[in-house]
Amino acid sequence: MNLQSRSYRIVQENQNDILDFQINEADGERTVHPKNSLNEFTAKEWIAETVSVWVQRGLGAKHPDAQIEKQHPAPFSFTDVSRLILFFTKSGHLVLDPFVGVGSTLKACALEGRQGIGFELNPEYAQLAKERLEREVRTLFAKQHPQKVCVGDARDLIKDLEANSIDFVVTSPPYWNILHKEDHKAKQERIAHELDTRYGNDKRDLGNIHDYRQFLIELSSILGECSRVLKPKKYMAIVVSDFRDKSKYVMFHAHLAEALAPYGLELRGITVLYQRHKRIFPYGYPYAYVPNIHHQYILILQNEKKS
Ligand SMILES: C[S@@+](CC[C@H](N)C(=O)[O-])C[C@H]1O[C@@H](n2cnc3c(N)ncnc32)[C@H](O)[C@@H]1O
Repeated sequence: MNLQSRSYRIVQENQNDILDFQINEADGERTVHPKNSLNEFTAKEWIAETVSVWVQRGLGAKHPDAQIEKQHPAPFSFTDVSRLILFFTKSGHLVLDPFVGVGSTLKACALEGRQGIGFELNPEYAQLAKERLEREVRTLFAKQHPQKVCVGDARDLIKDLEANSIDFVVTSPPYWNILHKEDHKAKQERIAHELDTRYGNDKRDLGNIHDYRQFLIELSSILGECSRVLKPKKYMAIVVSDFRDKSKYVMFHAHLAEALAPYGLELRGITVLYQRHKRIFPYGYPYAYVPNIHHQYILILQNEKKS
């Protein structure tokens, strides 16, 4: 998708008030500010993306290009990642995803002309990420920006990256061990279709850490290490969701943002990603209030470490 033909939507506070507008370079309207050091957006394009609620956009489960993605229990949508990449980088910039799964970030990078590096512990997902790039990225210029998938523990792989070498980090980590929960209705459906319900049994998998505090320490130390490789003042976007632990509601997004502050990763804002497509289950009915959690949070952090 190129910038010239892209149609942008501004979702204003009043959800009914949606303004569509078309950017057309032929009309001479695309003027990028000469001091814009962050991205290649015009003022209108920039402002549209700062609205703090986005509606998650996916291809739909039946789309031919959604078949690899479906084999992973918790992928994010490459179209949402594309929006982040276009806002936080320029063409050719280097993007890191330390928990790359089946490669949604790398697909977005390939489509948008950025170079991506992804770490993944589970070799099957890493292989699927490579296949996905071959099958689903058909743009001619994709070869000019090769994508890299590294198999192993993010804790080890990050050590091989040079300090201040990355322009943007975007990722979605395991959400503690929530995939282990037996009562999750969506999980029953995946079992019925013989699809993975957790990432694997590897002890190094953050999704297998039993203690929540320990999990937060391990996760923030990996993301903290990402701040070493991220250039000063550059951004990190982390897609997470809150969750329930039995009847207790866990504000994972808030805990993680707090845990990252000591690493110089300062929270600049949160975008709510509305997952309109998700099915609604009658949790709690007719005894108690139990939410259908139909949104994720995109934590936007800036690297304030000293260079
Ligand atoms: C939420 S998923 C990411 C999905 C990805 N965004 C996608 O769209 O495919 C988290 C991933 O982190 C991986 N993971 C867990 N612990 C890891 C570790 N220590 N090092 C590298 N990857 C790890 C899991 O195997 C899983 O694929």
